[in-house]
Amino acid sequence: MKPKIVVAGSSNTDMVVKVHHIPAPGETVMGSGFMVLPGGKGANQAVAAARAGADVSFIACVSDDAFGIQSLNNFRKDGINTSYVKVQPGMHSGVALINVADDGENSIAVAPGANSQLLPEDILKSDAAFKDAQLVLAQLEIPVETVEAVADAAWERKIPFILNPAPGIKIQESLLRKITVITPNESEAAIITSCRQPGDKSIPQMAGELLEMGVKIAMITLGSRGIFLKTNDDEALIPGYKVRAVDTTAAGDVFNGALAAALAGGSDIREAVDFAQRAAAISVTRIGAQPSAPYLEEIMNFDPETNQK
Ligand code: ATP
Ligand code: RIB
Repeated sequence: MKPKIVVAGSSNTDMVVKVHHIPAPGETVMGSGFMVLPGGKGANQAVAAARAGADVSFIACVSDDAFGIQSLNNFRKDGINTSYVKVQPGMHSGVALINVADDGENSIAVAPGANSQLLPEDILKSDAAFKDAQLVLAQLEIPVETVEAVADAAWERKIPFILNPAPGIKIQESLLRKITVITPNESEAAIITSCRQPGDKSIPQMAGELLEMGVKIAMITLGSRGIFLKTNDDEALIPGYKVRAVDTTAAGDVFNGALAAALAGGSDIREAVDFAQRAAAISVTRIGAQPSAPYLEEIMNFDPETNQK
């Protein structure tokens, strides 16, 4: 039996341009390629979790435009339960404009569109999705009140809740207390822990503060350097896998989706982190968000030696 998880979050269509370098403010650069690819942090994480072996119900909102319909079709191809995806006419589905540079780094601007219409009442209406779920996962590309409703739904049923706090915003302690695992990157951790400037606090210090705020497990993701893990009885920098990165878009999403699948399937924290870092390392060797998410077999057969830089 596959572990059951609920993912609540955004769905976007990514307009991707390959560039030599990310344009500075006021600068225009000529790109070398253009792709229209499925994305959105919520959808990326739902797809990554499904490919990593979970039975996923996705709570989201798309419009009835071509992008929204295409997204629904894609979710079904990955075996995701789409009964809880609201279709909201009269607006555009979520869109992201993405530049991917030669070194694999990116810049992203999101027009949320229908994602902003995923409301707390939609979480209440999705009650059945939470029945028998082993884990709940959300991000912050939908209204924060909706994320709070997701956290409440998990909390009331004592289901572990992973929050990937991206894009970064300041989070109320009432929400932080309901989080089992938080997975910010360095800059998101800095926002939550009220750093005045980057580097203001060390990574271990930020992780410690996240636990003091009520989170049970902090995993600060550090790109190619891996993650910093902190629980009440474990603290470690766990290195990532060395690969040739061509596009890091959605590395964090693949990490979160695979992490959720592994934890829901009964892996312990260290095993789940290793599984997720393998999945994320594979994803950065491929172009795009959802197209880069690996399948269970690929993660199991991942050989770091043959993927060395
Ligand atoms: P994004 O916003 O691009 O989805 P993020 O900032 O949320 O990413 P990162 O910290 O960049 O998340 O990456 C998440 C995880 O993905 C890392 O902890 C690591 O395991 C893996 N990863 C990211 N970049 C690389 C890389 N260049 N090589 C190997 N693994 C990587
Ligand atoms: O995390 C990557 C995602 O961020 C992209 O797919 C884009 O849609 C934005 O939501």
